[in-house]
Amino acid sequence: MASSRVIGLDIGSSCVRAAELEFGSGGPTGKAGATLVRFGQSALPLGVVRDGEVTQPETVSAVLRELWARARFESKDVVIGVGNQRVIVRELDLPWMPLAQLKSSLPYQVQELLPMSTDDALLDFFPTSEYDGPQGRAVHGMLVAAQRDTVNANVSAVEGAGLRPQMVDLNAFALVRSLARGDLAQATAAFVDIGASITTVVVAAQGSPRMVRSLPTGGHSVTNALASNLGISAAEAEALKREVGIGYAVGSDRTDAAEAIAGVARGLVESVRNTFTYYTANNQGAGIDVVVLTGGGCHLPGLGQYLSSASRLPVVLGDPLSGVRSAKTAQRDSLNGHESLIALSVGLAYGVAA
Ligand SMILES: Nc1ncnc2c1ncn2[C@@H]1O[C@H](COP(=O)(O)OP(=O)(O)OP(=O)(O)O)[C@@H](O)[C@H]1O
Ligand SMILES: [Mg+2]
Repeated sequence: MASSRVIGLDIGSSCVRAAELEFGSGGPTGKAGATLVRFGQSALPLGVVRDGEVTQPETVSAVLRELWARARFESKDVVIGVGNQRVIVRELDLPWMPLAQLKSSLPYQVQELLPMSTDDALLDFFPTSEYDGPQGRAVHGMLVAAQRDTVNANVSAVEGAGLRPQMVDLNAFALVRSLARGDLAQATAAFVDIGASITTVVVAAQGSPRMVRSLPTGGHSVTNALASNLGISAAEAEALKREVGIGYAVGSDRTDAAEAIAGVARGLVESVRNTFTYYTANNQGAGIDVVVLTGGGCHLPGLGQYLSSASRLPVVLGDPLSGVRSAKTAQRDSLNGHESLIALSVGLAYGVAA
């Protein structure tokens, strides 16, 4: 098989990011590995994407058009992601059937599990294992149910830019695909992406997703609290947040700022820790070995240490580019220190053959 190229497009609340990967023969799962060919990003004006959903499609389309021209992406085919509180992901056991048949039977099988009508939902199922149960052969996996409008809004914004969405993937699965490599693929790892307005937690055992949660909080929540408590602008609060961080000694002139940041960051860490506790309680003997952080929000100074002491787990920064070659056109050096921000776009590009 000839080499193939795929562009993963991450539409975040503060930024759009696109990564073009080239795969050798064998595709994304082949031995030849991947090469980052191009990467580009553009900041989004506040409010045009809320909680992962495009609310102003024309603006997002215009930003994407400009990004495609500037970063010189050659293809218009993209893989996009979804993942917020309107996308439900849960573990499920079903009687064994061939996968295509199982997927088409989902509306009947899962209606009573969902808070929405199956007519308004896009449903998918990702099998993780098979076993012989009391009622015969069964399959265990993850059910994904997304509100149709959530997905449609983002698809139209992408189409409005003249791009062609080839696939819509779950953000959490994409994160695992780009980050669960090397030793992390052998461990039980909790991947935590702290974005501007969404924090995604996904626990994967030996590279296979076992629990997914979307928390409606992130770096914006910290900035907003700081701005409103201190009566300063969002831009001032953003800069102050990055300087003060959490858990450091500060002068008396900064006590108010430190308290405002800590108040929100503590709540965020507590919610994340609760998801770990839930996982451990439901998976006896299979505790989490390590926490892997990505997303801009994880760069708040002191946050990683704080999460590590609260959860009593080692915390590391995710690197989606470890083991990925870089072409000259990718301008790899410009990504130094920011690798964790591109995890989702890289993972979406990996998804096309999954
Ligand atoms: N050095 C830093 N210190 C503190 N916060 C930072 C730093 N760098 C970025 N951030 C925060 O990261 C957030 C943006 O992260 P990211 O780009 O991952 O979000 P997004 O993908 O656009 O949003 P989402 O994933 O929630 O839809 C902002 O709230 C920003 O303040
Ligand atoms: Mg994000």
